[in-house]
Amino acid sequence: MINSRTATARRTPWTPDSWRPRVAHQQPAWDPAELERAVAELQRLPALVQPGEIWSLRRLLAAAAHGDVFVVQAGDCAESFEDVTTEHITRRGELIARLARSVEQRSGRPAIALGRIAGQYAKPRSAPTELVNGRALPVFRGHMVNDAAPTPSARRPDAARLLQGYYRSATTLNLLRTLPTHLARPVWVSRECLLLPYDRATLRNDPASEEWYLSSTHFPWIGERTRDVEGAHVELLSGVVNPLGVKVGPTVTPEEVVELCDRLNPHGTPGRLTLITRLGSGAVHRVLPDIVAAVSAAGHPVVWMCDPMHGNTIQLPSGIKTRRVADMLAELDGWFDVLTAAGAHPGGLHLECTPDDVQECVDEDPSEVGTYRTLCDPRLDAGQALTLIHGAAQGLRRRGRPVP
Ligand code: PEP
Ligand code: CO
Repeated sequence: MINSRTATARRTPWTPDSWRPRVAHQQPAWDPAELERAVAELQRLPALVQPGEIWSLRRLLAAAAHGDVFVVQAGDCAESFEDVTTEHITRRGELIARLARSVEQRSGRPAIALGRIAGQYAKPRSAPTELVNGRALPVFRGHMVNDAAPTPSARRPDAARLLQGYYRSATTLNLLRTLPTHLARPVWVSRECLLLPYDRATLRNDPASEEWYLSSTHFPWIGERTRDVEGAHVELLSGVVNPLGVKVGPTVTPEEVVELCDRLNPHGTPGRLTLITRLGSGAVHRVLPDIVAAVSAAGHPVVWMCDPMHGNTIQLPSGIKTRRVADMLAELDGWFDVLTAAGAHPGGLHLECTPDDVQECVDEDPSEVGTYRTLCDPRLDAGQALTLIHGAAQGLRRRGRPVP
């Protein structure tokens, strides 16, 4: 039984616009006329993904909620418009597939590959402006909003970029769909749900079922900074049939997590909701047990996914951000320990990684940071990503099947 403590009755019914009166965190200051033009065009353009695909992914995620499938969600922190080339897309698709294949081979658990790809162009930021040479500039918010170059004109939010992002998502997905399945597997794509006008403009109604779906990705997730249970992002996604993710950081309370489950999966359907915890190696043992206990007690069949990246970011004196693989392995290990002790199923691993030859994350020693090309957070290279994958496979072999 689902504990529906949230007073759903007092809410007005969901509509494609019911998010509008709610607080919308992390939105750029668009020019209203430019935004209106872009949104009008987006609304006329075709869906990038189809309802049948969305339901297939939901079935696989339902299996992940039961511990029968493991999900590898991986890709760039922020995709770059410049990386929409045959070579880059192919190599990224192959890496994501390789990670899923590797965990499957090493653990014996079937795995699916869910890319952070084909639309991961918008970023939440901790401050709206940054100081560059003593001058305050709007922050870079991803290529779907502005450009990273530190000039006022590059940083101006440009709504025409929403259309460019749509077309680049379409091109990326088109190429991924043509890759041989032994290289790229069936392709599932995901991105953060952040820019609400874009998400609204790509909502579509499925004539067969009359249900609404987000047609610009299979799997949208809500970030740590926008998961306000009363906010606009939660409202918008509560009405679509796509499987959803929610990021959960160390300051969350177990009550908040249960409220999010109640709002986003009121019927308690396995496969609908994935909780992506990103707690940090120092907090996972302290914070996760109460969350798992509360969600289990409320009867919510979530997919538990570990994001060992975002709670383990460190800033060097130079201002550069990095992450230590040792910390990420420690969080992953703690996550397996906590879930197993609670009798919950480990459902997936969430990584930021690139096939490129970079040294953005380090094994142990922050002085190993080298070639650094990310548009946002530091990514694992292929070898480091495989190290995390091997950690997950080991966890699945040792502790992945709780005794009922
Ligand atoms: C991300 O996944 O790139 C991100 C910003 O994560 P979070 O919302 O967990 O901070
Ligand atoms: Co990131």
